[in-house]
Amino acid sequence: MKDKHKVAHFYNRVSKIYDASYQNAYWRLYQKATWDNLRKHLPRDLSSQILDIGGGTGLWAIKIAKTGYCVVLADISRGMLDTAQKKCEAERLLQKISFVECDICDMKAFGDASFDFVLSQGDPISCCGNPRKAIQEIHRVMKPQAKTICSVDNKFGAMHYFLDQGKLDELEHFLRTGWSHWLTEQQEEQFDVKFFSPQEIQNLFIEAGFTVLSIMGKTMIPWRRYPKLLEDTNLFDQICKIEFSLNQEASLLGSASHIEIVAQKNG
Ligand SMILES: C[S@@+](CC[C@H](N)C(=O)[O-])C[C@H]1O[C@@H](n2cnc3c(N)ncnc32)[C@H](O)[C@@H]1O
Repeated sequence: MKDKHKVAHFYNRVSKIYDASYQNAYWRLYQKATWDNLRKHLPRDLSSQILDIGGGTGLWAIKIAKTGYCVVLADISRGMLDTAQKKCEAERLLQKISFVECDICDMKAFGDASFDFVLSQGDPISCCGNPRKAIQEIHRVMKPQAKTICSVDNKFGAMHYFLDQGKLDELEHFLRTGWSHWLTEQQEEQFDVKFFSPQEIQNLFIEAGFTVLSIMGKTMIPWRRYPKLLEDTNLFDQICKIEFSLNQEASLLGSASHIEIVAQKNG
């Protein structure tokens, strides 16, 4: 199976249970950081054309549509799109969101300079097999001066995975290439994932014709290592305060699990 089919296969299989696996304090913190950043950069004009590529079950498309915009939600997984569509039906948002099955590396469904704002959250760029092509495609479908917010998997934040298992040879390979596998219980679904250093991802955006406006980490502190703190609901606000005081701290960016980049198309 080609990697892109493996990705779609995996996400089709988990599409009905996907949302449930993101309902805990860690992901609430992560999502709050995402929404706070997204809200700041959405275009002022509610008639702006917005694309959510790799939009999955519609978490962000739905939030954006609820604030008044129309959103195109695109994804390589039919299953994820079907789940998103059911949620939109339940929320009476079908007039605000359209659904397109497509690959971020080949968005021929969309013409050049079609969108005022593009988001790609989670890690579609990391999972797509050809991040450079994905970023060039995002650039192509955006209008000049439009903004994009994308998040990717962070290389140095993933080192713990190899260290915890004592896999030093694999760690060396990973640090050299940035490539690893998505670990799923079904062997035939394992696809390659690219992890980036903050500098590498910035360079790819600059090379594609963007100006990088900001870069932040989500989350900067490895909170999942401290489940007792996370599970104490009385501490959530304080945890948010600490995390958000650090999330643009350049010296800590390498330790985040995801890197989020805000960029503007030149021209
Ligand atoms: C971790 S999920 C994130 C979903 C959503 N953006 C969110 O933040 O909730 C990654 C999504 O990227 C999609 N994806 C992965 N590779 C893709 C590709 N080549 N083209 C389009 N979507 C892709 C997956 O199907 C999945 O829905």
